[in-house]
Amino acid sequence: MTHLDELLSLHREIEQCRRCPLWKTRKNAVPGEGSAVADVMFVGEAPGAREDEYGRPFVGRSGDLLTKLLAEIGLSRNDVFITSILKSHPPRNRPPIKLEIDACFPYLLKQFELIQPSVIVLLGSVAVSAVMGPWKMSDCHGRFYEGSDRVFFMTYHPAAALRFPEVREVMRTDFAILKTHLDQVAVISTGTDSES
Ligand code: URA
Repeated sequence: MTHLDELLSLHREIEQCRRCPLWKTRKNAVPGEGSAVADVMFVGEAPGAREDEYGRPFVGRSGDLLTKLLAEIGLSRNDVFITSILKSHPPRNRPPIKLEIDACFPYLLKQFELIQPSVIVLLGSVAVSAVMGPWKMSDCHGRFYEGSDRVFFMTYHPAAALRFPEVREVMRTDFAILKTHLDQVAVISTGTDSES
């Protein structure tokens, strides 16, 4: 099986998943979408009502903002891979509970392994605490963390930026930091500065 086949088969498995009770209330599981060989992967919190309707991640208002922030650093949704900690919508958009996070987490780890992104961007405190452990957003946003085999970057969730205009500006600055890092990685991996 190629790694693309493995990713597709993982996503079929997620669509049928009954590891936690959310399968009873969801319309569609939301495995994630984007490039299977993405350099950058974005991890949100959980699908909202609109994502549940379409089976696609970040297609509501938060998604519009994420798409815009990506465009501002020269990326399209097809360049990256977008998913969330939970692959099923929690009723009434309540925050994910531990049992759901624990049930879903192996899917995310498998996505990391198959896609092998050079940076994993954790969007908001649910993603940060699920992957890194407790860390205040005001302390960790805009920062990279190099684990043994993965590099993480932390920023706010777009939903917070929709509520608070000042957070939107902070996210813009964080995305600019991310872009600088990606440009440096591109120079190192090609061995040439693409501008020259
Ligand atoms: N918020 C998330 O965290 N994930 C989605 O897919 C949509 C909104």
